[in-house]
Amino acid sequence: MPKIIIDGQKVECRPGVSVLQAALEAGWNIPHYCYHPGLPVVASCRLCLMEMKMPHPRTQEPVWAPKLFPACHTPAKDGLEVRFDSPKVRDSQKHVLGPDVLPVILPRDLVSDFDDLGHPMTRLG
Ligand code: FES
Repeated sequence: MPKIIIDGQKVECRPGVSVLQAALEAGWNIPHYCYHPGLPVVASCRLCLMEMKMPHPRTQEPVWAPKLFPACHTPAKDGLEVRFDSPKVRDSQKHVLGPDVLPVILPRDLVSDFDDLGHPMTRLG
């Protein structure tokens, strides 16, 4: 069973699952939209982006990569370390769910209803 680290916590996951699926099964509440376990992965909505440690090209020391990766499209390999609980990830989620994008994926009247029910940007802080 692969063991990965999510937000500093060790998580044992089923072989062959994505980081997103592993995180969801372990109880994380990761925003996602285009992912469904029964469908091919398209990784197009960018809601599940995460930070991931990778070997530095010169030192080979594991460091946080400068870009974000889609958790739904990243296999949960043994020893992998990722984080969702970071300002960079939250900024990305706010951008994806922000006023520029939300009206595109939801009808205008639903966007205002959505605000009344607690806009995701509010919940993301
Ligand atoms: S859930 Fe859409 S990119 Fe991962």
